[in-house]
Amino acid sequence: MRLSILGAGPGGYVAAIRAAQSGIHVTLIEKDEVGGTCLNKGCIPTKSIIASLELFKKIKLSELYGIDVPNGSKPNLTKILNRKNKIVQTQIKGLYNIFKSYRIDIKKGKGFISSPQSLLVTYNNGEQEKIVSDKIIIATGSRPFQIQNLPYDGRIIISSDDALNLPEIPDDIAILGAGAIGCEFACIFRLLGSKVTLLEMLSRPLSNEDIEITDILQREFKKIGIRLITGVKVEKTIVEDNSVIIHIDNGDIISSKKLLIATGRAFNSENIGLENIGIIRSQSGKIPVNEKFETNIKGIYAVGDVIGNMMLAHVAAREGITAVDNILGNNSTIDYNSVPLVIFTYPEIASVGLKEFQAQERGIKIRTGHFQFRALARSHTIGEIDGLVKIVSDADSDKLLGVHIIGPHASDIIHEAALAIRKGLKTKDIIETIHAHPTFSEAIIEATEDIYGMAIHAIKK
Ligand code: NAI
Repeated sequence: MRLSILGAGPGGYVAAIRAAQSGIHVTLIEKDEVGGTCLNKGCIPTKSIIASLELFKKIKLSELYGIDVPNGSKPNLTKILNRKNKIVQTQIKGLYNIFKSYRIDIKKGKGFISSPQSLLVTYNNGEQEKIVSDKIIIATGSRPFQIQNLPYDGRIIISSDDALNLPEIPDDIAILGAGAIGCEFACIFRLLGSKVTLLEMLSRPLSNEDIEITDILQREFKKIGIRLITGVKVEKTIVEDNSVIIHIDNGDIISSKKLLIATGRAFNSENIGLENIGIIRSQSGKIPVNEKFETNIKGIYAVGDVIGNMMLAHVAAREGITAVDNILGNNSTIDYNSVPLVIFTYPEIASVGLKEFQAQERGIKIRTGHFQFRALARSHTIGEIDGLVKIVSDADSDKLLGVHIIGPHASDIIHEAALAIRKGLKTKDIIETIHAHPTFSEAIIEATEDIYGMAIHAIKK
């Protein structure tokens, strides 16, 4: 069987590898660099920069850790970005090695679906090649959403793509949108030393997260000096030579060197030939698919950001694998209820499953348990004691419904909760599983025990 995949981000390249592992002949078409947004403009570059800034944060606290460091440490943006670029390049090289080992045919050009069984690739030099295949997977991803009347200029009005390659640290930056991207960049720029104003139209940042978690995030933002203004809209912006004047509907006027727009993402579904063969596209640009990730045209599948289910790299990868599974004739679907979310703010946030407000909306009777990281010895050893773990369980069945974490290593410890929720485990299953000491995961067992007032390292209620 021959499979063509359009787009080599985590949706497309993971599908390519899985298909090749299963004996399918794969052609992978990519117009930019393999790895997609995640590797080139998203997860990996931001986490590389965040790692540099975490070190900087520690250096500033070196006295507390008992290490004498000469005064005057400061972030060197050029070196931070060089390190980030090196990490990305290493990963790209690694991907090419894997593709080569599986004999995946890479076509570095722009793909266009010319018929249900063929794609036309246009290379930079204008040459074209026709690729014939039995099945096609579209994995073309997304890009920063462009707000009307506020076009990106890459200099003052910037996107998250631009923010990863600024030539110098801005004195100040305003960020529009306190979603995952806005909040992560607010932390990045604040730790780099910029004055940060974060503007959000809803009443709180990360409005999909549990309210107790975002309450703590707001407190921590305040502590590190991020100015968060919620419940506002931008009325007007005036771009001047070296700054932007932002008029907010609460009457405030903010002058800033940069305005980063982080208000969501647009779907890359234009100019790839969808109309050509009658693939349906929603008004917003999403490609609708069925449970098997097949579009309305038989044999053509779509996965990742472009289908807009959950715009996360790990979800795209699983969708890619699942689409391949279905192409192979298996009956494969995805359980979106146990997908973990991780946001690399200070402190980190990670969550899976039901939030308390969702349980209330759905009329589900729940119990909750909490455990503060400041009560955890392991947190004290690394000097990061802010935050908590919150457990949501079903009051009748005892099943674990949700786990919400803000605190150190949240992104590393969330997965036992994902597994437990996926498998329908009960709180007693968590409690009866011995968690190693001293680890951050102990906060999960303690928070679960707290449901019954039985957390060991918490004073009697
Ligand atoms: P988002 O949809 O998560 O957040 C956008 C925020 O902007 C929302 O809070 C929204 O209320 C606000 N907003 C929209 N229009 C506005 C306006 N005119 N004025 C003020 N506020 C406005 O989108 P975001 O942060 O751009 O992220 C895009 C996607 O990428 C999301 O699906 C996100 O989950 C994913 N992502 C995930 C990361 C992670 O898992 N660590 C990191 C970065 C992105």
